[in-house]
Amino acid sequence: MTATCKILVVFGTRPEAIKLFPVVAALKADPRFTPVVCVSAQHRGMLDQVLQIAGIVPDYDLDLMKPDQSLDALTAALLTGLGGVMDQVQPDRVMVQGDTATAMTGALTAYYRKVPVDHVEAGLRSGNIYHPWPEEVNRKIIGQIASLHFAPTDVSAKALTDEQVDPARVHVTGNTVIDALHWVTARIAAEPALASGLARIEARFAGKRIIGVTSHRRENFGGGLESIAEAVRQIAARPDVAVVFPVHPNPNVRKVMDAALAGLPNVALIEPLDYPNFARLIGLAEVMLTDSGGVQEEAPALGKPVLVMRETTERPEGVTAGTAKLVGTDTRTIVTEMFNLLDDKAAYENMARAHNPFGDGHSARRIVELLGNEIA
Ligand code: UD1
Ligand code: UDP
Repeated sequence: MTATCKILVVFGTRPEAIKLFPVVAALKADPRFTPVVCVSAQHRGMLDQVLQIAGIVPDYDLDLMKPDQSLDALTAALLTGLGGVMDQVQPDRVMVQGDTATAMTGALTAYYRKVPVDHVEAGLRSGNIYHPWPEEVNRKIIGQIASLHFAPTDVSAKALTDEQVDPARVHVTGNTVIDALHWVTARIAAEPALASGLARIEARFAGKRIIGVTSHRRENFGGGLESIAEAVRQIAARPDVAVVFPVHPNPNVRKVMDAALAGLPNVALIEPLDYPNFARLIGLAEVMLTDSGGVQEEAPALGKPVLVMRETTERPEGVTAGTAKLVGTDTRTIVTEMFNLLDDKAAYENMARAHNPFGDGHSARRIVELLGNEIA
């Protein structure tokens, strides 16, 4: 029997875990691969929520999260920690996803050992190194290092070839977040109790039009978040509306949202939801208002319009398809765009019916097939 390919899958945050668990499952099911999972735990609680529902027990857990961690300290700890794991595991390949500090340092430590890197969700570019910050530069660094680039769409593949990446190394696979969403939707259908965590909020807001909100971007810390909080306050002042807002545990986010929104009658400020309950929230919501990357991809797949609180997006496919609209962080613009959607049925239907451009739910299988060809 020939040796299998030992592939070290490295991740550390909630969205990486959501987007990689389908790939880990596909690798485990393929006898050509021996996946080894290393989590940095750059996120702790929010990562553990995903590991639990996905049934992943990491082989290595660096447990790196510190309260209000700085980018410098986090990056330094990641380099040392991930380097140590790579020396122990001696992987044939390393897989990273997206654009976090964990993904960037995972790629860099692999490169320092001349181990080929596979990049899932490659080629997202906003063209502005401060939006999103620091993710745009993290992705560019990984793009320079990666051996195989799994681009979710034609747009992201072209961004890579425009940067002189060899087209033969770039593959359009769709985004694995759609695989994850299909999986969790099927799990909820089989076991509805998994997504019953919002029952009290559903009862409290019965008859209201639900707006789902998330916000966590570092580039919005300070004034941007205050402006977003004020917009949410004004939206929730409408008697027909209720806001459900799972708040990111970053203290920079929490203190602003608590100060502006805690105790308002039409606002539920809640802890981060696990993945089934967040999928349920998207299902309940009439509109999602967010600065998240992943939510821009998931809401269209569930037929929900997204207002994106960013000046620019590395996911322009949603805007082009008509499922998403950029509204920035200006209070008045956010509120005006939200009220337009709530009050203009035709505008709403146009966004809700637009085609989801991010994938068909078979991306993980494609990625593993491509990896299989690579190692053949
Ligand atoms: C990180 C990623 C960002 C990604 C986001 C997804 C970087 C630089 N940023 O940003 O790209 O979009 O995750 O959410 O990689 N915290 C907890 N519990 C948790 C998670 C976080 O308390 O489970 C708090 C801690 O105080 C921590 C802080 O949030 O220090 C920031 O976490 P960090 O991972 O550094 O940054 P995010 O803003 O979450
Ligand atoms: N999500 C979740 N619970 C929440 C909020 C978000 O499970 O309370 C999921 C969401 O479905 C998406 C991912 O987290 O898949 C997005 O993560 P986040 O917004 O933190 O990061 P980004 O995508 O912006 O990097």
